[in-house]
Formats: sequence, structure tokens, C-alpha cells
Amino acid sequence: MQIPQDLIETAALKLKSIQSEAEFFQLRAKFLGKKSFVASSFSKLRGLKSDEKVIAAKELNILKNNLIKLFETALADFEGKNDSVQLDVTLPPDPFNVGSEHPITKISQKIVRYFTPLNYQIFSGNEIETDFYNFEALNFPENHPARQMHDTFYLNSNSKSEFLLRTHTSNTQVHAMLSEDLPLYMLSPGRVFRCDSDTTHLPMFTQIEGLVVDEGVTFGDLKGILIDFIEHFFNEKMEVRFRPSYFPFTEPSAEVDIKFGNKGWLEILGCGMVHPKVLEGCNINIKKYRGFAFGMGVERLAMLYYGVTDIREFYSSNLDFLNQFYS
Ligand code: PHE
Repeated sequence: MQIPQDLIETAALKLKSIQSEAEFFQLRAKFLGKKSFVASSFSKLRGLKSDEKVIAAKELNILKNNLIKLFETALADFEGKNDSVQLDVTLPPDPFNVGSEHPITKISQKIVRYFTPLNYQIFSGNEIETDFYNFEALNFPENHPARQMHDTFYLNSNSKSEFLLRTHTSNTQVHAMLSEDLPLYMLSPGRVFRCDSDTTHLPMFTQIEGLVVDEGVTFGDLKGILIDFIEHFFNEKMEVRFRPSYFPFTEPSAEVDIKFGNKGWLEILGCGMVHPKVLEGCNINIKKYRGFAFGMGVERLAMLYYGVTDIREFYSSNLDFLNQFYS
């Protein structure tokens, strides 16, 4: 069997010019892999006479071991070179991702920060709620058409079920009025659920409820605080419109729109004076106390604040989208 004497030198020469680990392994396959000269020569040994076989096998084994050694040292050298590059302490560190607050959390906190210095207490509410707190105590009688508008998720797949996912944060008004002393100034951020989904609606979204029950509270107070809040939030004078509306638990009721550039009027919250029936239902003396309430959509405010056009982006888990709000 003819064994080329320069095989080792050729391999050594080629190894000198490799640039990457991938090239190294390609080269090693060429010299030591299944289709290499060494491998095919071993399979040819069978056809030789026994004395020739012994000599050829010995030479082939020496060649193979030398090649293995050559490639092992080359790999160690190559990795060593790479290590020394990584040890260059003057290079900037690898960027790595750390978590940050979700844009909806940021906007919620921004809203809460406006109200807490005004002595509004934060209330956490129940996401799983009974019909009583979500509807009945808020003056939605059974079969009232306003219930249909809420696209409720019932937990037992029928509207007679006792438990449901709250459709608004207004349930916290009832809990607060039944458990707290007056006067009452409360703010309650949280998730709400409605069976609805498109570019401007989600089945789960965030609201912030506000409620004040005190002596001599007027609709003027409600207007004043909301206009001031909106201007603080957007940090500029805004055109604000109170449009008459209907909620069973407030009378009078309004929806608040703001004028937003070329988008025109956009609704951001509902509000009104707490209906006397609701106050009475919570054992509040309506001769002495009045209340106002408001409920704002946090995603809607976040879309306007950040210029996001599809509400679903907030919950798509798309890191490219979320990284824009990184800070
Ligand atoms: N709960 C109402 C809604 O989700 C908003 C609202 C809150 C209206 C408080 C009036 C007072 O549409």
C-alpha cells in the first residue's frame, strides 16, 4: 500500500490558515473522517496478503495517530487564541437584557402618582366577583340592557352563575363604601374582563377607578380634578370635552373625550355623580353626603401617550415592541 509521505505536512499547512471552528472541523473530517484517505485505506487492508497487511496497518496507525495529535494541538491553539481575545478588558461588555416595567404598569403608576398626594387611598379589588358587586349594587337591575353591553365572562358559562370576571373596576366602589368610614377618597387600579377583541378592544384590559364621597361634593369638583389630571398626564393644555352619557350607577353621567391632533376626539374615561340609590344601598346618608366617580382605560391612555395604534401589541410578548419602553 502506497502511503503519501506529505499528508501530515499538507494538513499542518492547511491548519495554519483556518479562521473559524467550523473550518477546523471541516478540515478534520477531510483528513480523519469516514471518507478520508486514512479511513478508506483501513478498509482496503482486508484485501492484502497477511505480511503486507501487518506493515501497512502499522504505518496507517502511525499516520492516523500523528494526524489526531496534529489536529488536537491545532484546536487547543485555536481556542487559546480566541480566549485571549475574550480577555481584552478594554472591550465593551456584552449587552444583556434585564427586565423592566411593562408600559401599562408605567402608565398606571403615572396615574396613581397624580392622585396619591391628594390623599386618595389605593384599594385593590377582586377580579373574580359576584353579580352583586359588579352589577346589582351598582343599580344594574336583573335584565337591565346595560348588563348586555358588558359582554360578561361568567364562570359557569351561563348568566345565572353567581361568579363572574369583573367587567369594570366599579365593583371596588361598592366594597369601599361598605367597609370604609366617610369621607372617602379612593383610587383602584386593576384588570377587567370583557368578551371582546379587535385593534382597540381586548378581552382583558386595565382600568383605574376613582371615587370620592364627602359633604358638598359637586360635578364641578369632578370636572376640575379630571381636567387638571389630563393636563398633568400629557404635560400640556388639552382640549377636553364632557359628553353626556349613561351609566346606571351615576347621575348625571358623562364620558370624557380629548382632542388628539389629527385623530379628532377620543374617549378616555367615564364619570358622573354617584347615583343616590347606590349610596343608599351602601348605607350612606344621602342628606349629608354626595359622591363622584370616574373610571379610566389605562391601555387607551397608554396608546395616546406612546403613540401605539394596536392595543394588542401591549400583550403580544414581542420584545422588540417592549424594548421601546425600556428604562
Ligand atoms: N365603569 C364604567 C365603565 O367601565 C366607567 C365609569 C366609572 C363610569 C365610574 C362612571 C363612573 O365603562
